Amino acid sequence: GAAGGHRRPADAQGLSPAEVAASLSTRRMGQVSRHRVQTESTNREAERWALEGAPEGALVIAEHQTGGRGRMNRTWFDLPGRSLLLSLVLRPPVPAARAPAITFVAAVALAEAASRWVARERIEIKWPNDVLVGGRKLAGILLEMRCEGQRVEHVILGVGVNVGGGPGELPADVQHLATTLASHAEPAPRRLEVLAAFLGRFEQAYDEFLDQGFPAVQARWNEWFRLAGQWLRVQTPTGMMEGRALGLGPTGSLVLVGSDGAASEVFAGDVERSSTRRP
Ligand code: BTN
Repeated sequence: GAAGGHRRPADAQGLSPAEVAASLSTRRMGQVSRHRVQTESTNREAERWALEGAPEGALVIAEHQTGGRGRMNRTWFDLPGRSLLLSLVLRPPVPAARAPAITFVAAVALAEAASRWVARERIEIKWPNDVLVGGRKLAGILLEMRCEGQRVEHVILGVGVNVGGGPGELPADVQHLATTLASHAEPAPRRLEVLAAFLGRFEQAYDEFLDQGFPAVQARWNEWFRLAGQWLRVQTPTGMMEGRALGLGPTGSLVLVGSDGAASEVFAGDVERSSTRRP
């Protein structure tokens, strides 16, 4: 602006613990928070806090990560001051095997939050938990947990949402893969609004998961899955699988029906739409 002399993103300020708490309608998510200008990874910082006793819902937000991490050891890129980078400490009272389902709860909450600014038809969840708009990635989720036997000590739910920045501002190597809310909404939402929308929906869906178990999540997730009925190829750690997609299975798998009519479940992998459609 004319007065300042240097350019500052519209919402560079606004994610302080006081501002966050004032904007929320949640009971626990984000009620205590830490805000960092820069950190290696909010997941790392939230984990340290969890080990010191952070309560459920404790939130770490950063303006920029120097070592932002994605699934499968990928790095997570951000636009400093314009990406929403957060980690939540959770202490779900469920056996360890059930806790990874929280990634699906978060994906549903992100898709629902995005629908405040983007037409629902343009939003989809790509199995397992990427949130896409117009076929490009808007948000990603990285869940990490610490267990003692079957008991969950804590879950760290890391979420990255591309909020600000136009298509031309993303690095060349992700431009065809990623998108931002600002590319689809006019005016672009502030990160604080996106945070409040996500945390509100997440808390509601998380409580539903704790009360009713996975079936409630599964149903909500399947509403955002646009590939049901299509022939897919999935690159799994143990080889390629193909089949017609049914949707999310009872434990978070992707259910495929092969050309022999037999259903099978995929538990990890990268989905692609197959170019060769089988009968
Ligand atoms: C993915 O889609 O691969 C997951 C991306 C998760 C990125 C978020 S940003 C905040 C938190 N801290 C990290 O280092 N990663 C997660």
